[in-house]
Parts: sequence; structure tokens; C-alpha cells
Amino acid sequence: MSTTVKKAELHCHIEGAAPPALVEAQAARYGVDVSGFISNGAYVWSNFTEFLTAYDGAAGLFRSQADYALLARSYLEGIAAQGAIYAEIFVSPDHAVAAGLTPAAYFDGLADGIAAARSSTGIECRMIIVGIRHLGADKVEAAARIAASRPHPLITGFGMAGDERFGKVADFARAFDIARDAGLGITIHAGELCGPESVRDALDHVHPSRLGHGVRAAEDPDLVSRIVDEGVVLELCPGSNLALGLYPDISHHPFDQLRRAGVRVTLNSDDPPHFGSSVGHEYQLVADAWGYDAADLTGFTRTSLEAAFVEEPLRAILLGQLG
Ligand code: ADE
Ligand code: ZN
Repeated sequence: MSTTVKKAELHCHIEGAAPPALVEAQAARYGVDVSGFISNGAYVWSNFTEFLTAYDGAAGLFRSQADYALLARSYLEGIAAQGAIYAEIFVSPDHAVAAGLTPAAYFDGLADGIAAARSSTGIECRMIIVGIRHLGADKVEAAARIAASRPHPLITGFGMAGDERFGKVADFARAFDIARDAGLGITIHAGELCGPESVRDALDHVHPSRLGHGVRAAEDPDLVSRIVDEGVVLELCPGSNLALGLYPDISHHPFDQLRRAGVRVTLNSDDPPHFGSSVGHEYQLVADAWGYDAADLTGFTRTSLEAAFVEEPLRAILLGQLG
């Protein structure tokens, strides 16, 4: 994918962005065996539950502020080289605490990496705190309280990741109320593993401005109309969806169908080395599939920047870079 097309992504889990080689280096430093989830330099999993296990295993090897600075810096410098000018990363205090870090050290480490990448490449980044759905409503609410305390100026949003098959969206509504009342941007994973009803529940109970995935809304034309009418932005992750087997190949992915229906769509990597994705790869994937030109692709970046959880002056500067 041409680096001259400016890119932005709104949906990347920082722990899920750790390349296997970096995780292996961390494992050697900490004396940990990773053969259960990395083999021949690649993550090994064969379904979503195993993916989450590999994800947690990798996350457990980032144990200091410096470790997270390195991870954020290498991810951001990598996508800047692909033409990215802006990224939002999902950050999970639950994973940090499980690895022995305080939330403050975690955010500071990530912020160090963001600052380093900004000074080497110019890329801008904001953080979205996520609660992990399958850890339960109490944990998600605790994550929301951390977010609502506004622990770092680069933290501008709140969301929920994890296993969508766990619990009902209504169970988590209070967490989102806490975050919304604190002025944070709101996004929620829905319509990835579960169908249109999961998207409806998310819209009804959480009122997000963006949906993480939301791709399976495409199965319900009335729901697609609602998403268009409400202007909800979809953080689509086609490479992730293919890797997880939601669709057999890109020609069956509803990205173009949703776009033609008037949905505001964006392109995102989700967990790049797990899914063979990257922001540049996602742009290339859809360009090859549907023949988008540079103006079309820049349009996806514009939608991302319009929907970004970022201060208005910086949004204006970034939009100005699109020409
Ligand atoms: N956490 C990391 N990647 C995820 C995904 N694709 N869906 C839900 N939770 C996740
Ligand atoms: Zn995700």
C-alpha cells in the first residue's frame, strides 16, 4: 500500500500489537516459556478462545513502564512508516495489573512510547481504556472508574473488549454511564462474534458514537439503516474478521456493502501480528477487493479523524494534512 495515502486507525489493542519476536525477547529476559502460544515465530491459536489465551500470554510479558514504552513506540513507528498520521490504541489496566504494573506506570510507559514515536515520525496517538467483558461487570466498572478519573491527558475514550458471548450488554451499562459522564468518547466491541442483536443491544444500552467491528450489522438491513441514521462509525477490521473465520475471503466481507449503504466506515488492524494485519494491509486489502482509488482511501482516513476521540484543534490539523 502506497505510503502517500495518509492513514489513521482507531482500533488496535496495544497488547495484541506485540510482534512474536518482541514477545520472545521479553520471554527470554523474564525466563518464561512461550512455546504454548508462539511457534516458528508466529502466534498459534485456532479459535477466538485460544486467541485470547495467546493474547493474555503475550501481555503477561510486558512488566515494566519501559516494556510498554518499547511496545507503543515500535507499534507507532511501524504504522507511521505505512503512512499513518494518527492512531488510537486500546489499553487495558486489567492486563497491566495482572503483569504486576500499576495503572499509572502502565499509562506513563505507553505515553513515553507515544512521545518517542511522535518525535521520531510526527504520528499522533490517543489511548482508550477498555474493560474486559469476560472478566465481568465489576471489573469493567472498575476500569471505567479509572478512566473517569482522567489519569492521563492522552486517555480520551472508554470501551469494552473481550468475549462478546459473555453476559448481556445491559450488565455493563453503568460502566459506560460512568465513562460518558466523565466526558470520554465511547466505543464498544459488538457484532463481531455475535450477530445483529448484539449491535442493537450495544446501541440501546451504551449509545456509543463508534462500534468496535459492528460488521455483522450487515445481516440486518433495518439495523444498517439505523446505524446510518444515527451516524455511528464502524471500526471495521477486515483482516481480523478473515483470520477469525467470520467470512471465507474478502469478497464475502461486507465492508463495501456497508459503505455503499451509507455507513461511516473506517479501517483498523485490531491485533496485527495475530491476524496478519496492519493498517497499511487493511487499506491494500479493500483497495484490491473493490478497486478503491486514493481519494476513496483518503475518505476512510477522513472518517477516522472525524470520529477520533481527540481535541478539536488537533483534529483540524490532522484533517488539514489530508489535503
Ligand atoms: N481483544 C483483543 N482483540 C479482540 C477482538 N478482536 N475482539 C474482542 N476482544 C478483543
Ligand atoms: Zn478489537
